[in-house]
Amino acid sequence: MEKTSIHGMWSSRTAFILAATGSAVGLGNIWRFPYLASDNGGGAFVLVYLMCIAFVGLPILIAEIMIGRHGRRSPITTLVALTRETGAAKGWISIGWIGIVAGILILSFYSVVGGWTLHYSWLYLAQLFGGARITDPGATFDALLANPWELAGWHAVFMGVTVGVVGLGVEKGLERAVRFLMPVLFLTLVALVGYGATTGHLGKAAAFLFQPDFSKINAGVMMAAMGQAFFSLSLGMCTMMTYGAYLPKDISIPKTAGIVAVADTGIALLAGLAIFPIVIGFGINPNGGGPGLIFTSLPLAFDVMSGGVIYGLLFFGLLFVAAWTSSISLLEPATAFLVERVGIARKNGSLLVAGLCWLVGLVTVFSFNIWSHIRLLDRDLMGVIELVANDTMLPLGGLLIALFAGWALKETILREQLAGMPAGLFTAWRWMVRILAPLLVLMVLLNVVL
Ligand code: TRP
Repeated sequence: MEKTSIHGMWSSRTAFILAATGSAVGLGNIWRFPYLASDNGGGAFVLVYLMCIAFVGLPILIAEIMIGRHGRRSPITTLVALTRETGAAKGWISIGWIGIVAGILILSFYSVVGGWTLHYSWLYLAQLFGGARITDPGATFDALLANPWELAGWHAVFMGVTVGVVGLGVEKGLERAVRFLMPVLFLTLVALVGYGATTGHLGKAAAFLFQPDFSKINAGVMMAAMGQAFFSLSLGMCTMMTYGAYLPKDISIPKTAGIVAVADTGIALLAGLAIFPIVIGFGINPNGGGPGLIFTSLPLAFDVMSGGVIYGLLFFGLLFVAAWTSSISLLEPATAFLVERVGIARKNGSLLVAGLCWLVGLVTVFSFNIWSHIRLLDRDLMGVIELVANDTMLPLGGLLIALFAGWALKETILREQLAGMPAGLFTAWRWMVRILAPLLVLMVLLNVVL
């Protein structure tokens, strides 16, 4: 009989693709990708990012899902079992611990930004019923950031809905949520690109995103692009390993991984094409937008376009949904671990982890107001968390995952999990996780340290 996971199983291939895409597509694509492109020279950043997705992200995505499906448990327990089975060093288990710590750090600020999307959805909903217009988006955004209570409150609401889904378990909670919400998300984004096309600035936006100025590529840009590739594909912290653990045996991992990577990258580029025509059209400098980019630029358009309030509500509502289907995947690995190791109920486990993440998230909340004067490495505290978790821990976790799959796992396991993959592709993949991906990650990480 096929080995299954005690946490439940995805009911079909579509269910897994929706869940994995739901995890991948989130604030990373729609909030973070455009602002990083804006801060790191547009096309130069996008080019490095796309290369990282193809040569580092995709092979590691396959490796993560594969390790998860072979282990069928939460990350740490899976790694313990696999090191025992293959006689590999116990040190590999650190991958799971890096993942849990990175996950807590990422969810801590992710939930704060998720709270912003709720706040903006609320503002547009209120407008529908006669509430105040957003006429000066910069001032509206600054007012939100200046108010720690409001930030912490929305942050709590966002964390609450995340626990709501994770507490219900794999089939009832995660799967039902993503099956309904993902298609709505895609359609709304396409409509916004359609609007961008009517502004007449789509060409300029495309040029900004796709004409690389090679002189702008430096160590910092490469680090940001590599970190974003991991972040956007939900890699390096065992999220995809955990989702892979619930994947039925007869489903092709390379094919599904390919679909997830293409969908994730496509949505990021679509988001860029939706946002930059508006940024350019309103005479905002597309360079250096920072984390507030979408919140300070898009409301300008929503205020003047016909049906703008509805668009505003749809956009921020959509962004919230996208963030929600991602945050559940950030909470799931640590929760599954507590359920397995400590034996506590799923509901309580998810509540415990979420509570901790909420507390850590206060650092991000205060980084915009009472602690805004604190700067480390030329960044505010939220920037420091992003640097440590996204740009360092995820690539490091990914590097170890690639090496583990490439060198430590027995070939019979690889062939069993990747059965049906054409021989040439299998060889190419193995070469990438053994040498190419680890080398590229190391180059980028060391370049910054040196
Ligand atoms: N990929 C998601 C996004 O782009 C965020 C996310 C979910 C994530 N799970 C993750 C990032 C695991 C890193 C690791 O918004």
